[in-house]
Amino acid sequence: MVQLTLPKNSKVQKGKHFPAPEGAKRVKTFRIYRYDPEGVENPRWDTYDVDVDACGPMVLDVLIHIKNTMDPTLAFRRSCREGVCGSCSMNIGGRNTLACTHGWEEAAGKEVQVSPLPHMPVVKDLVPDLTMFYAQYSSIEPWLHTETPEPQTEWRQSPEDREKLDGLYECILCACCTTSCPSYWWNGEKYLGPAALLHAYRWIIDSRDEATGERLDALEDPFKLYRCHTIMNCAQVCPKGLNPAKAIAEIKKKLVDRVV
Ligand code: SF4
Ligand code: SF4
Ligand code: FES
Repeated sequence: MVQLTLPKNSKVQKGKHFPAPEGAKRVKTFRIYRYDPEGVENPRWDTYDVDVDACGPMVLDVLIHIKNTMDPTLAFRRSCREGVCGSCSMNIGGRNTLACTHGWEEAAGKEVQVSPLPHMPVVKDLVPDLTMFYAQYSSIEPWLHTETPEPQTEWRQSPEDREKLDGLYECILCACCTTSCPSYWWNGEKYLGPAALLHAYRWIIDSRDEATGERLDALEDPFKLYRCHTIMNCAQVCPKGLNPAKAIAEIKKKLVDRVV
């Protein structure tokens, strides 16, 4: 399990306590990281005693309940509520995951600790700044590169070639893997990280793409690719069950294959 590592802005202040409403029968405590760029008590851990009979089974249900009934100042991202958009990723009980698909009963510990994705700057509370993550994704040029004139209908692919994209195209760019990767923690400005590299491989093995050589050239760098030391945190935490470490190993293999 990936251990909790606090976000970058962290000299912790004493937090506030929000008690459960009177008459609540089942109460669960959530300890939530708070950071307000315009506030003074920064950062701090607030505790919320939540009447869990009043909310749904997922951690995101609890956060929405807290925001609607206990503390409207709490900030977090969410959109689809069904594990598709990747926006509600955070660290829950010491593990990076999606709040909308992670049941609060599954979380380890007497109190459920919730914090932003580790080792990223924090915009507010549970909202990390993913600017660099998206810039790294953009740097691998995640679109089809072709020289052949565009066909009249569509770029065709055999079922076998299409199958090679399975386990790659499903990535929802939640950043759970990249922010759980120790190599990324230490070299995040130079190492592309597991999510961007998984996408790089997705285009390298796409039978329709005509820039494989250029894509490999761009990755042949001691930091961009070779900072991966196969620690495998990325594969352990991916909420879609993907294996970025395997994709990274495949890129390295392709680089070796073209030399020999
Ligand atoms: S396998 Fe590579 S990318 Fe995945 S967590 Fe380890 S070092 Fe990071
Ligand atoms: S590989 Fe998995 S953990 Fe990483 S960004 Fe994609 S969906 Fe999220
Ligand atoms: S809200 Fe979309 S993945 Fe959780």
